[in-house]
Amino acid sequence: MTSNQIREKFLKFFESKGHSVIPSASLIPENDNSVLFTTAGMQPLVPYLLGKEHLKGRRLASSQKCLRTGDIDDIGDNRHLTFFEMLGNWSLGDYFKEESIAWSFEFLTSKENGLSLDSSRLYVTCFEGDESAPRDEESKNIWMKTGIPENRIYFLGKEDNWWGPGENGPCGPDTEIFYDVTGKCGDLSHEDFLRAQKEEKVIEIWNNVFMEYESKDGKVIGKLAQKNVDTGMGLERITAVINGKDNVYNTDCFEYILNSLPSGDEKSRRIIADHMRASCFLISDGVLPGNSDRAYILRRLLRGAIRHGKKIGFEGVSSLVLKIAEKYKESYSLDVNFITPIVEAEENKFLNTLDKGLKEFEKGERDTFLLFTSYGFPVEMTIELAREKGETIDIDLFNQKMKEHQDKSRAGGEQKFKGGLAGTSEAIVKLHTAHHLLLAALQKVLGTSVKQRGSNITEERLRMDFSFDRKMTDEEKSEVEKLVNEAIEKDYKVVKREMLKSEAEKIGAEMEFGAKYEDIVSVYFVEKGDEVFSKEFCGGPHVEHTGILGKFKIQKEEASSAGVRRIKAVLE
Ligand code: SER
Repeated sequence: MTSNQIREKFLKFFESKGHSVIPSASLIPENDNSVLFTTAGMQPLVPYLLGKEHLKGRRLASSQKCLRTGDIDDIGDNRHLTFFEMLGNWSLGDYFKEESIAWSFEFLTSKENGLSLDSSRLYVTCFEGDESAPRDEESKNIWMKTGIPENRIYFLGKEDNWWGPGENGPCGPDTEIFYDVTGKCGDLSHEDFLRAQKEEKVIEIWNNVFMEYESKDGKVIGKLAQKNVDTGMGLERITAVINGKDNVYNTDCFEYILNSLPSGDEKSRRIIADHMRASCFLISDGVLPGNSDRAYILRRLLRGAIRHGKKIGFEGVSSLVLKIAEKYKESYSLDVNFITPIVEAEENKFLNTLDKGLKEFEKGERDTFLLFTSYGFPVEMTIELAREKGETIDIDLFNQKMKEHQDKSRAGGEQKFKGGLAGTSEAIVKLHTAHHLLLAALQKVLGTSVKQRGSNITEERLRMDFSFDRKMTDEEKSEVEKLVNEAIEKDYKVVKREMLKSEAEKIGAEMEFGAKYEDIVSVYFVEKGDEVFSKEFCGGPHVEHTGILGKFKIQKEEASSAGVRRIKAVLE
């Protein structure tokens, strides 16, 4: 069973149990400054777990994009990933333990509408109880009703069987479901179960959290107004388990990437696959490579992929973007035309400096600050290179120099390092928005039968292929330029809206990219008040308002193929 099939099966199953399927929220949390990225399916739902009414009702299911950077140094082993999808179902004060557990069991084991796993290979854990909540006998009894024998239900403490998104917010005891991947474990005593878990013979596949408590500063302060359920199942991991694989890279989630890489160090190959997948989703959600916070994480992922690519003789990680977008087109719209140039730009700049930096490192240079400022080496890369040589690096010294540097440059605004790419990425985002303006202007001048047939953006220019059967006249070209420049001067807002595909089609949004599950798509509107200049299906990202684009100029209009013309244009 492929990951796409499992995702679909999961969502369909919970739909049949009265759940509304909601699209994945962005990897960048909205209205939550406490975390850099969305790390669990429940995170975008916190306000609703706390009692806010959700428009889609009280039973929800989703496959949520998640990114966890805590384990970034473990990437390449059998289990760890930065980006992953988390399948989840939620009850917002609706059903509780009884249904939640029964449905988990049914989905995992049912031959007709589930995953058909062997129930004699399942084990579960429940919360043993402490001062904040009682021992969860209730869950145990419900598990026994499904047929799980009593001796395969283990009670554990808060470390293992309590979950909340952090120190504050909704939380509660959980019950975790494990699967024997060897098929040989049989009955296990408490100790043997813990050992089998450590040895990765039994693997956690699903977590059901019964969120009826609230915590503050890490302490449970009382009960919530409603009893919630929050479940989470890692899609990549369950795909591995279902297909009898001992590691997540051996699944369809990664094989198409790994197959296009040369053979060589397996860990490097896995790092490239993991980091490129994460990078594509991050860029699609509006993160651009840079030197702080999210931007820096993205840069680290991209540069890590590029460096490991170099190690195994693979230059051109940007060529993987298309493959990744293809793989996910049924569920997510990853805009290849936008993501590729961002990756390419980082790749070109970094490869140029990487050689010099690597030479310096090989010669013995260990000044992390110098390697960072002169060669764009993220400090973690120096540490990683050193670790490969069995050396350690003084990170405190780096932090101290960095702080001194920041104090010095604070007056001058954001510091620009030689490896910096902020300018490049911004140029690409601007051209991306100009691309939308151009398509709208072409349709206004040449008629609405003009459709986009292809697109390519670099940091210098945009290129658009469109259906039209003759050369444009000079007047038409000036008219198109004029319309785009007027739209820039009018300083329209650029607004992203998620809507049903059918609805977007009805309002005539320009269509180029694939649709999300349940036909929810994102559409970018260029508008002011009631006036809409352009509306286009697109994964983004874009500038927030058109006023900052500069002056638009068509450089060339020529034939591309029969019935298709090509325009190259720039922003000055
Ligand atoms: N929030 C829980 C987890 O991340 C269950 O979804 O494991």
